[in-house]
Amino acid sequence: MKIIKINLKKNPYNIYIGHGILKNIPFYIKNWDLGNLGIILTSPIIYSLYKNSIKKNFPSGRYKIITVADGEKAKSKEQLFYAINKILKLDGWDKRPFILCLGGGTIGDLGGLVAALYKRGIPYIQIPTTLLAQIDASIGGKTAIDLKEAKNILGAFYQPKAVFIDPLFLDTLTLKELKEGMAEAIKYAMIEGKNFFTFLKKNSRGIMELNPPLILKLINTCCRIKAKIVERDEREEKGLRTILNLGHTLAHALEASSKYKKISHGQAVSIGLLYAAGLSLALGKCDKKKVDAVREIIEAFGLPVDISFDYPKLLRAFKYDKKFISGKVRMVLIKDIGNLEITDGIPLKKIEGSLRLFNGKKCRSLAL
Ligand SMILES: NC(=O)c1ccc[n+]([C@@H]2O[C@H](COP(=O)([O-])OP(=O)(O)OC[C@H]3O[C@@H](n4cnc5c(N)ncnc54)[C@H](O)[C@@H]3O)[C@@H](O)[C@H]2O)c1
Ligand SMILES: [Zn+2]
Repeated sequence: MKIIKINLKKNPYNIYIGHGILKNIPFYIKNWDLGNLGIILTSPIIYSLYKNSIKKNFPSGRYKIITVADGEKAKSKEQLFYAINKILKLDGWDKRPFILCLGGGTIGDLGGLVAALYKRGIPYIQIPTTLLAQIDASIGGKTAIDLKEAKNILGAFYQPKAVFIDPLFLDTLTLKELKEGMAEAIKYAMIEGKNFFTFLKKNSRGIMELNPPLILKLINTCCRIKAKIVERDEREEKGLRTILNLGHTLAHALEASSKYKKISHGQAVSIGLLYAAGLSLALGKCDKKKVDAVREIIEAFGLPVDISFDYPKLLRAFKYDKKFISGKVRMVLIKDIGNLEITDGIPLKKIEGSLRLFNGKKCRSLAL
């Protein structure tokens, strides 16, 4: 088993990574005094897939299960209050509840926010079951739900007590969901540099076939990159954590403007990464080779490189983004693989123009 430490001053915790560690979780947390009532927050799909091992490893005397809506629907105010009401009913004067988020990024984001809000904060742990959540969403304490106007608009920074990553969960994941995770992995490779970028490109087949050493290397590398960034800028106050938003400005707007239905997070991120590369080229930050490299790796993992969207709706959603500051946009741009730049103050006109060009195109070129 690998352990990656997140050395935060106030809330340090570990990421535990290993095939089959699900069954060890109750033993680990027994000694941590998180509480005496474990609430396993999950979705019906995950519960039906893992019912037997949940029942076997998490005895019903100490653990109760709450299922919420599956997918992005979980991140809604209705589901937030639904989960809180369920906990209220299970809670009592002699109970100290804590939450175990068992699911993809949506369950982790919702469960983390429930934990942050309930009684002004109860402990929670992350047990991510999708690749996307294992390499990204479960780490770093960003919790949130969406409103129809904007994604992740209601949330809190609230760190888990631990993250347990069991790659065996990936065996039941659909190919589509596996690809979703790869969009975030490509983002990490663009942050980290050519070694990891080349590793991904070379091993795309082995990774998609879930070759265990490759999957472990992928998860470890991404977790280490995220841990390093979160340690240096836990609450995104120093601008360092902003790097992790690479590709996400457009991604979030695409998701919100399609009502979280037509496009998933991973698909939106891959389009967002390509747009960031295209915009970087258009603003003279990088050459065309970099855009081609980004497009090629996205295609190697079967992720989308073209998109059509409702332009006015997209622009409206874009303006709700947290990175949109008084008429100007903060974007993470690409100078090279492994060399990014956070640019404040890109005039909205430039963004508008580039988005108009991006719409309905094969996204092969983007010139302003
Ligand atoms: N907090 C963060 O830092 C952060 C970072 C990145 C993404 N996110 C958020 O994460 C969300 C996306 O997460 P996601 O891609 O995991 O989506 P998801 O949680 O919707 O899961 C995708 C689908 O996979 C199913 N599933 C989950 N585990 C499974 C398994 N082991 N086997 C079979 N099916 C399984 C789910 O039931 C769901 O239908 C977005 O809302 C995004 O905003 C948050
Ligand atoms: Zn993301």
